[in-house]
Amino acid sequence: MDLQSVPLATKRIGRAFRFLKEADSTNRIVDAEGTAGTGEGLLVMADMQTAGRGRMDRGWFSPPGVNLYFSLLLRPDVEPHCVASLPLVVGLAVAEGLAECAPALQPKIKWPNDIHVGGKKICGILCEMHLKDGRVDYLVAGIGVNVNILAKHLPPELQATATSIAIETGQTIPRENVLAAILNRFEPLYDEWRAFGFKALAQQVNMLDALRGKHLRMELSGKPTEGTASGILPDGALLLKTPKGTTSVYSGEAHIVGSG
Ligand code: BTN
Repeated sequence: MDLQSVPLATKRIGRAFRFLKEADSTNRIVDAEGTAGTGEGLLVMADMQTAGRGRMDRGWFSPPGVNLYFSLLLRPDVEPHCVASLPLVVGLAVAEGLAECAPALQPKIKWPNDIHVGGKKICGILCEMHLKDGRVDYLVAGIGVNVNILAKHLPPELQATATSIAIETGQTIPRENVLAAILNRFEPLYDEWRAFGFKALAQQVNMLDALRGKHLRMELSGKPTEGTASGILPDGALLLKTPKGTTSVYSGEAHIVGSG
C-alpha cells in the first residue's frame, strides 16, 4: 500500500509511513523506533503479522490481505497517569472513522480497549508506554481492525466473538480508506487530549459506551466482582456500581454477564 492512495488529511500523524508486507508485530517495530529516538507520528503498517500482540499476553489474529494492523509512535507531554485514557481516545477515533466508512455499523467503545459492533469485537487497541526518568518518553498505539475478513476465515475460537466490516455490511472496502478515516479523526482528538485531558472527550466517549447499563464481572484487586457499568468518568475510569457501593475502575477486563 502506498500513502499516495490513502486519502490522509493529517499534518503530523502518519506523515512518516512504513508499509511492510510482513512484520512480527508493528508494535514491536514502533517500540524499537521509539527507543532509537524517531519523532512523533511515525506509522508502521503491515499486510500481515506473524506475532501480532494482544492485551494480557494474548496474540492477535493477523492474516494477509484483509485487515488493518498498524502502530503509531506518540510523544505527548503528559503525566504518566494520564496515559491510561489514551486507548479510549484511539477508540473514539476508530469508532468515528468506522462510522464514517460504513454508517450502518454503529460501532461502540467497549472500555477500555475494544470497539464492538453488534456485541462482537471489530477492533482491538494495544497502547504501550515507555518511561524515562519517570516521564513519558514515548507511547506505541497499536490498532488492529477486522476489515474484509469473512466469517468462514475466522478461526473457530473467534467465530462467536469477532466480526468485521465485510461480515456486518456484506461489502468489502479498501483498507486505505478505513486507515485514513481513523487517522483523520485521531489527530484532532489526540491534540485535544494532550491540551485539555480526557475530560474534554469524556462526553463523546460516553455517547458510544458499549457497557453502560450492562451487568459486568471483573477481577478487582484479585477478587471477582460483579456490578453494573454506569459510565466513563472524566479521568477515563469505568464507574462500576456494586452491591457494596460505587467504585472507579482504572484497568482490567470487563466481561458482560447481562444487560443490567
Ligand atoms: C487486543 O484487543 O488485545 C489488542 C490487539 C491489538 C492488535 C494490534 S494489530 C497492530 C498492532 N501490532 C500488534 O502486535 N498489536 C497491535
